[in-house]
Amino acid sequence: MVSLFKRRGGRRDDVPVDVQGRRAVIEIQGVTKTYAMGDIEVHALRGVDLTIYEGEFVSIMGPSGSGKSTLMNILGALDQPTSGAYRLDGVDVSRLSESDLAKVRNKKIGFVFQNFNLLKRTTAQRQVELPLIYAGAGGRSRKAKAALESVGLGQRLNHLPSELSGGQQQRVAIARALVNEPAMILADEPTGNLDSRSGAEVLQIFQTLNRERGITVVFVTHDSWIARHTQRVIMLRDGQIVADAPIAEPLIAGHNERPSMEDEMEAVLKTVYYGGKEEEYT
Ligand SMILES: Nc1ncnc2c1ncn2[C@@H]1O[C@H](COP(=O)(O)OP(=O)(O)OP(=O)(O)O)[C@@H](O)[C@H]1O
Ligand SMILES: [Mg+2]
Repeated sequence: MVSLFKRRGGRRDDVPVDVQGRRAVIEIQGVTKTYAMGDIEVHALRGVDLTIYEGEFVSIMGPSGSGKSTLMNILGALDQPTSGAYRLDGVDVSRLSESDLAKVRNKKIGFVFQNFNLLKRTTAQRQVELPLIYAGAGGRSRKAKAALESVGLGQRLNHLPSELSGGQQQRVAIARALVNEPAMILADEPTGNLDSRSGAEVLQIFQTLNRERGITVVFVTHDSWIARHTQRVIMLRDGQIVADAPIAEPLIAGHNERPSMEDEMEAVLKTVYYGGKEEEYT
């Protein structure tokens, strides 16, 4: 267990590497998740294999109920699979105790949620300091300020969530996710509650973090236009991956006019059509 945190920057021989020489950060094999609902079993994931390499920028799509959030919770070590294997950065997560899992989450993963999950009566600066306090890190005030500046909120340090727009609140949440310098950011519909301009700002931040800092970003979206800004789209259906395809030319956030719904749908279906009915994409 100790080796998990000492290995930063080190190499393990058995971690797969892609053609560009990038190491796998996420390796899941045969993952299933079954929820017991009284006498009924809900098979939320039915055997998922997925490898994501460091520095990738991935979106996960699929109809409601297809298992996206269930998969994200497992990737984020917030929940354990019913069966199957998960290695995060080469470490078998399924064998960790609850307290070691919490350490992994805090050190390696930054989470961003659809509804921001900010504390109501807490300033932006304090929200971002919280993960540092939890990790016992020093230089908290300086680090929190730097993280807020990196998302363009250097002038909003003492604002409460109620004094910020939705897009600004989500940027506080991103700063909070970033402040421990995680290897990976996981986000479940981070733009779901935002208007398109604020959504584009959030996308821009993710693209910059990915490009300039090499942070692996994985997020769920219902929006095919948003997905086209990532490098790879994974499509889930009924708890299984039914398509996994690279985006040939990812869009740059804020640089393109959003096309009509019809054009947009056609473009995404061309790239990652998964064989279901077109009406399922809402
Ligand atoms: N805690 C739970 N207990 C029982 N069933 C659950 C639980 N969480 C999810 N499910 C079921 O598992 C399936 C997958 O749910 P999940 O939340 O992963 O879907 P999703 O793809 O994120 O959907 P959405 O797009 O609506 O957010 C659904 O059938 C859901 O009802
Ligand atoms: Mg969901």
